[in-house]
Amino acid sequence: MDTVEPYRIKSVEKITLKNRQEREKILIEAGFNTFNIKAEDIFIDFLTDSGTSAMSDRQWSCIMHGDESYAGARSFYRFYNAVRDITGFEYIIPTHQGRAAENILFSTILKEGHAIPNNTHFDTTRANIEANSGKAIDLVIDEGLDPSSHYPFKGNIDLAKLRSFIEKTGPDKIPLCMITVTNNSGGGQPVSLKNIIDTKKLLKNYGIPLFLDACRFAENAYFIKKREDTYRDWSIKEIAREMFSHVDGCTMSAKKDALVNIGGFIALKDKKLYEVLKNRLILIEGFPTYGGLSGRDLEAIAQGLSEVVEEDYLEFRISQVRYLGENLVSSGVPIVEPTGGHAVYVDAKSFLPHIPQDQYPGQALVIALYREGGIRACEIGSVMFGKKDENTGKERPSAMELVRLAVPRRVYTNSHMDYTISVFRKIVGFKDKIKGVRFSFEPKVLRHFTARFSELG
Ligand code: F0G
Repeated sequence: MDTVEPYRIKSVEKITLKNRQEREKILIEAGFNTFNIKAEDIFIDFLTDSGTSAMSDRQWSCIMHGDESYAGARSFYRFYNAVRDITGFEYIIPTHQGRAAENILFSTILKEGHAIPNNTHFDTTRANIEANSGKAIDLVIDEGLDPSSHYPFKGNIDLAKLRSFIEKTGPDKIPLCMITVTNNSGGGQPVSLKNIIDTKKLLKNYGIPLFLDACRFAENAYFIKKREDTYRDWSIKEIAREMFSHVDGCTMSAKKDALVNIGGFIALKDKKLYEVLKNRLILIEGFPTYGGLSGRDLEAIAQGLSEVVEEDYLEFRISQVRYLGENLVSSGVPIVEPTGGHAVYVDAKSFLPHIPQDQYPGQALVIALYREGGIRACEIGSVMFGKKDENTGKERPSAMELVRLAVPRRVYTNSHMDYTISVFRKIVGFKDKIKGVRFSFEPKVLRHFTARFSELG
């Protein structure tokens, strides 16, 4: 590890490693689904990087400074200025999280037959488009679908695919195009500034606006600085501003790169659209100067946005994720390479080749991680995405069987990473004995959240 945490610990939260017998009992009670385990029974929690950040001392002091006035609160203006400073957008709508921003945007702009292209839509973005009669289209470059490709910007949208999609569908059916930075559903892979600029150029010919799904904009800006030569000497904030300067708006989950536990926003250039979105905000979230948040949350977001673009913070953040990934690879654990910004994605299909996809190798690995080390990870494979054929009742497996280790921001030290690596090394030693699973309870909707499993003999 060549970088070190650029912060010291002022307040700690106790975590406990249950003993093996207790962990075994907890697994059985949870139906072998780690979503059903109480957080206090987890030792290291890699379920998500969303809303799990540790706030800084300065953010906690912002909590005390929050102005809770219903209208025109000071905290709103601090939030507004911070978002404006980074994005350059004049019109800003606070929401309680990212999916509320998506809901407000898509319930306003979508009509029957409309489609929204993206590099890869995140689940909630897709769901909010589909719930509003739209089609969510993924057009990431081919390298982004190949776990072994080391292309530096695997999150890029494919311009040839985008052009032919627009020609086929008709620009009037595409109210906007999105790019997700970094591309979460594609492994947290970055998008280059060149790709953002070229996408905007293409869309301009058709009069289609471009929005960023900006949850992890700072992590993306860091990769641009390191991998796109033109921007080598730019500050992260300058790169972030440049990214936003080429697009027309964004949705944001502040639970990621604003370093807070709750929050989100929409920011955009178009005043007319803003006025319509604002009315929708009042209907479902709140008055325009607080949206879905309290004054103290708005203050903490403003402060978080100034901390997340600090280069030493990002240097450590990205290298911690890389450290975990590289050590898993050298321990014999295949992952999606190179590591992205916020998570390591283990390729469970090639790690556990003796477990067929209809016995869910990803879930089997998730269970092994909890059993061996009290670690919680998330299956992103056939448990989450397997689709039943309506005619035959047979299940079509997901293309990949991944297990995501999403690293919360500023929460775990490098020795937590070393612990995780050592648990994986133990698992490597007996991986051929790991068993597959079958569903013992299978809910109809979003089954991965509440399903129960039994282990196969
Ligand atoms: N867009 C992206 C790219 C996301 O990763 C998420 C959330 C959202 C939108 C929705 O934001 O949760 O604030 O409503 N991702 C989390 C995750 C849940 O675990 O990756 P939200």
